[in-house]
Amino acid sequence: MSITKPTILVTGGAGYIGSHAVLALKSAGYEVIILDNLVYGHRDLVEQVLQVELIVGDISDRSLLDNIFQTRKVDAVMHFSAYAYVGESVTNPAKYYQNNVVGTLILLEAMTAASINKFVFSSTCATYGIPQFIPITEDHPQNPINPYGATKLMVERILADFDVAYNLKSVRFRYFNAAGANPDGLLGEDHDPETHLIPLILQTALGKREFISIFGTDYPTPDGTCIRDYIHVNDLADAHILGLEYLLNGGESEVFNLGNGNGFSVKEVIAAAEEVTGKVINVKECDRRPGDPPALIGTSEKAIKMLNWQPQYSGIKEIVSHAWQWHQKRHK
Ligand SMILES: NC(=O)c1ccc[n+]([C@@H]2O[C@H](COP(=O)([O-])OP(=O)(O)OC[C@H]3O[C@@H](n4cnc5c(N)ncnc54)[C@H](O)[C@@H]3O)[C@@H](O)[C@H]2O)c1
Repeated sequence: MSITKPTILVTGGAGYIGSHAVLALKSAGYEVIILDNLVYGHRDLVEQVLQVELIVGDISDRSLLDNIFQTRKVDAVMHFSAYAYVGESVTNPAKYYQNNVVGTLILLEAMTAASINKFVFSSTCATYGIPQFIPITEDHPQNPINPYGATKLMVERILADFDVAYNLKSVRFRYFNAAGANPDGLLGEDHDPETHLIPLILQTALGKREFISIFGTDYPTPDGTCIRDYIHVNDLADAHILGLEYLLNGGESEVFNLGNGNGFSVKEVIAAAEEVTGKVINVKECDRRPGDPPALIGTSEKAIKMLNWQPQYSGIKEIVSHAWQWHQKRHK
């Protein structure tokens, strides 16, 4: 007799991190349904690589959600869908509060109405704001300095309240900078517009950009450039399976950082990319950007201990080489 594995609804599963999580879920034998409005997601990757059901729709469409939950037995929701451009969130906060907070609230209400009480949420280190100490632990104060971070903190708060009132159990993952690509070259990062450092560097290596801007070379760091924590997207995906299983096994609501634990400066990432690609990356040194702290590094000891998470790819060269493999294929 075959035992059916639980069915997971993955919002934003056609996007960068969500698609890697869907592949990991499939490999672990879960049934997966993706809900994505394809504003930024990629239908071709769902159809050709993931090969799971794709429902094209919006998380704020309550009747669509009710229909999904009434017609399918969904055991848990992994919620990746959101807008995530920090700069845009400053100039157009309404768009961010609408999608990231109101949209998520509608999703949570629909889940509660359907008695689905397991939720894995993509939060962010941007909820911490300017670090008061490093490495950042989960109990570091949360003072976001932009609307994007504020939307994620609001959802964290909603989740805590929904647990008390409606018994909705959640795992809130605060990611640092997601980076890299599926090591087999099947999936990777394809944001448009792109704002993340590694893809921008690789686009420069491919000749799609003239240069990469370095914002600030006078920070109090060893080489003067900002230090960030880059976490491989496959390691993020693995953590999501563990977080999900923790909830399916009756775990209480929890929050976990997901980071590398090691920081790399902008210049170190560029040097790694030059080594991996064999090309000289043109750089332009610019002034600091307001609100960029010198260093953002998290500790993920809690996830390592409590979830038995074992990240596989912590070296920057490995992360960049997986991304390079993907970029050469996707953007040739
Ligand atoms: N990329 C990072 O470094 C990073 C870091 C911290 C947190 N996060 C969070 O992780 C999540 C995934 O990030 P990503 O980089 O994969 O982004 P992404 O843009 O590649 O993926 C998000 C997906 O959600 C979909 N979507 C957006 N709004 C929707 C809606 N209303 N209804 C249905 N689908 C919708 C988009 O079409 C897209 O496919 C986001 O919540 C983001 O805030 C990302």
